Amino acid sequence: MCGIVGYIGEQPKALNVVLDGLSALEYRGYDSAGVAYLDNKKQLLLDKQVGRVQGLIDSLGGADLPPTTTAIGHTRWATHGIPTIPNAHPQSNTDKTIMVVHNGIIENYSELRDHLEKQGYKFVSETDTEVIPHLIDFYTRTTTSFVEAFEQALHQLRGAYGIVVATSAEPDTLYAARLSSPLVFGVAEDALIVASDPSAIMEHTKKVIYLNDYEFVCLHSDGSYDIKDFEHDTVVEREVETLEYDAAQASLGDYPHFMLKEIFEIPATLRSATLGRIKLESNTVKLGGLESVAEQLKYIDRIVIVACGTASYAGMYGEYLIEELAGIPVEVQQASEFKYRNEPFSRSTALIAVSQSGETADTIAALKKVESYGVLRLGVINAVGSTMTRMTDAGVYCHAGPEQAVASTKAFFAQATVLMLIGLYLSNGRSEIYKPLLEELEALPNKAKQVLDQADKIKALAEKYKDNRDFIYIGRGYAYPCALEGAIKLKEITYIHAEGYPAGEMKHGPLALIDENFPTFVIATDSKVLEKTYGSIQEIRARKGPVIAIATEGNTEIAKLADDVIYVPKSMEQTSPLLAEIVMQLFSYYVAVAKDLNVDRPRNLAKSVTVE
Ligand code: G6P
Repeated sequence: MCGIVGYIGEQPKALNVVLDGLSALEYRGYDSAGVAYLDNKKQLLLDKQVGRVQGLIDSLGGADLPPTTTAIGHTRWATHGIPTIPNAHPQSNTDKTIMVVHNGIIENYSELRDHLEKQGYKFVSETDTEVIPHLIDFYTRTTTSFVEAFEQALHQLRGAYGIVVATSAEPDTLYAARLSSPLVFGVAEDALIVASDPSAIMEHTKKVIYLNDYEFVCLHSDGSYDIKDFEHDTVVEREVETLEYDAAQASLGDYPHFMLKEIFEIPATLRSATLGRIKLESNTVKLGGLESVAEQLKYIDRIVIVACGTASYAGMYGEYLIEELAGIPVEVQQASEFKYRNEPFSRSTALIAVSQSGETADTIAALKKVESYGVLRLGVINAVGSTMTRMTDAGVYCHAGPEQAVASTKAFFAQATVLMLIGLYLSNGRSEIYKPLLEELEALPNKAKQVLDQADKIKALAEKYKDNRDFIYIGRGYAYPCALEGAIKLKEITYIHAEGYPAGEMKHGPLALIDENFPTFVIATDSKVLEKTYGSIQEIRARKGPVIAIATEGNTEIAKLADDVIYVPKSMEQTSPLLAEIVMQLFSYYVAVAKDLNVDRPRNLAKSVTVE
């Protein structure tokens, strides 16, 4: 989704830093990009382009960027108005003295726009953002300083925003504010760099400060800054945090796409999610992030998991596991639905937000909804320091490292593993599968590697099926959430219609779709319901539907039933579908490559969906 970067400092390299930062945020998905910067007469200049950041760089002079000490930039993912140059950010006031980049949505923009138009303000874009520079301009007429006008404008805005503002009236200061949309600034030796995501800053400094809701900051070119809580009208003192970051993880290395790199990182992801958390010798699971709420957890009798997309399927996998391990009823709700439901909620319910980015607007809204309920809010989150990590009472980090491809892959495995650890922890060793699962968790990374070793076979399968227009993915029990994840992956990056279904539901509708052009992916790994899954395969075969099965090594039956089989190493019933998931993610990847599609940045989608 939209990305923001701003630089103010003593060196004339503001555009280089801002454009590098925008490039680092490209993976989030966008359709236009723009910058505003100060020229040597202290006037603000604007350059905006539809399409890639590279187009913007070329337009600004390529390797020869104009030297400047102040710049703000933006990549836009269209919400209000199609991707055009007038709709791209920065948006400005009519005099071009106030430039604004904005992530989020101003919900009362049409009311504000009406009011400003009546005051004579002329609008040139269809965006909600354009009200901001005009509104600040409006308040500069009645206030004595720019900061006052900025603050007055903030009080009028409803919705969600991360905003950075440059003004030629104060060329040595940038203004930034946040409400429900992330914003962080880095304190470098000779500059301050503000961004919507720390990955745009990391190259320059690891020292950062996150803004909270209803805060704004004035960033000065001499490196000083002032943070204010404008809801309570108080000055904020905040300690600088140090980012932990492995630069190698954010670059492609020898891989052609981030998605492939991230799939190949699954064994390492499985390992780091359990590192230091399971001890086989003592049969224990230690989750430091839950220690502070250990007492409260003893009284939890219901868990609601809220998440979106892939994270919700990991949540569903966790639902099955936590229920089996700990005997606590769990339900998964799509965060976008959860926030508008009026369901009863007791204090003995815990809410778990599952998210890779920690910034997904719907999941944040779900956490906000229960704020006043007094319930325990836990996080299973990957991005350290993200908004959700600061909204939850406690949580367990996924430790999957940065995930850049829009379609989530390795994060799913980290989320599933962490939920498994939470289930093990809550079960207190009482479950029959407690010890076998602990042991299996140790063995899983190597088994995952063995699946990846079959990449060529999976690629050949993708070549064979790449022209089919529809797919269905089915599984029972633990394989069902994995079937849903298999289907969404194909949909997201290949634009092929795919659905996930519980295998047993085939005869209640989907069977009507099956013919020789409609293949089914069947997760048929060893489990106590395998015979039943065979039954589903027979039903599909009887309608001439092609069947691609993922089965456990040593299964001699399956080859007689399915058109194609990929085998995965023997594992537990609970964990085998995770190995099958690797096959399905690789399959989607290779189909997208065979179709010559933009694997890492599929059309219309964004990595971090920061609007509701
Ligand atoms: C977007 C991404 C998905 C992701 C979902 C939830 O739709 O494209 O890959 O699963 O958001 O994201 P989160 O960061 O909350 O896990």
